[in-house]
Amino acid sequence: MPAPTPADQPPVPAHVAIIMDGNGRWAKQRGLPRLEGHRRGVETVRATVAAARDLGIRVLTLYAFSAENWNRPADEVGGLMNLLEFFLKRETATLVRDRVRLRTIGRTDKLPEPVRHQLAAALQATEHFTEHTLVLALNYGSRTEVAEAAQAYATDVASGKLPADTPPTWETFARYLYTADLPDPDLVIRTSGETRVSNFLLMQAAYAEFVFTPVLWPDFGKDDLAAAVADFQRRERRFGRTSEQLTAPGKA
Ligand code: FPP
Repeated sequence: MPAPTPADQPPVPAHVAIIMDGNGRWAKQRGLPRLEGHRRGVETVRATVAAARDLGIRVLTLYAFSAENWNRPADEVGGLMNLLEFFLKRETATLVRDRVRLRTIGRTDKLPEPVRHQLAAALQATEHFTEHTLVLALNYGSRTEVAEAAQAYATDVASGKLPADTPPTWETFARYLYTADLPDPDLVIRTSGETRVSNFLLMQAAYAEFVFTPVLWPDFGKDDLAAAVADFQRRERRFGRTSEQLTAPGKA
């Protein structure tokens, strides 16, 4: 049998979303403060953005700070905010060089002013790029996102902007989510061996494939990303159909 050609290969996922987990355990295993784990985590973020781009992934979403993460000890929250500010300051030039657009999802208006300042500069500097997008989920919570979308949707029905007498469709409702102009994730990866979704893209990941890896985030490398993508490529995505329908679409 001839070797498979690139044309035979299933496509690379267009949108990969990652729950970066395990920074604290990575540090603890080494007798280091938790913040050291987050510091190493930032280096992994940097390498993963480059690796995703090299693999042809068009959108990479990283769960950097959840709405629930404010409940961590104040010094850890402060440290994470400093790291975020530092990352944005340091990496904007690289994003521009590599033509990667930065986007955010989440209530970024609640982030500290220095972070918002760096964020605004990075968003502006990269807003015209279209080929690759890095989405940082910051102060993000999927349930809040859905609740806010429902409120905005209801407001538009009340004002007559949306018809009150036709049943809502997912496509219409999705326009009210933070991710309105982003494709749904094809692949969601969670590191560190935890197998939870943790309030991340609950609606958008309805048909995503999930890969859970035991690798702690600071140790996650480009080979781990490539392995997750290869795992994704071996899956059969049926979107509610049968396997037979996919192989012989005419016989649906
Ligand atoms: C989970 O590890 C990780 C986080 C809560 C934050 C992720 C943040 C970074 C990787 C650094 C900052 C991000 C950017 C984009 C600059 P954990 O602390 O829950 O680990 P544990 O479960 O082992 O304690």
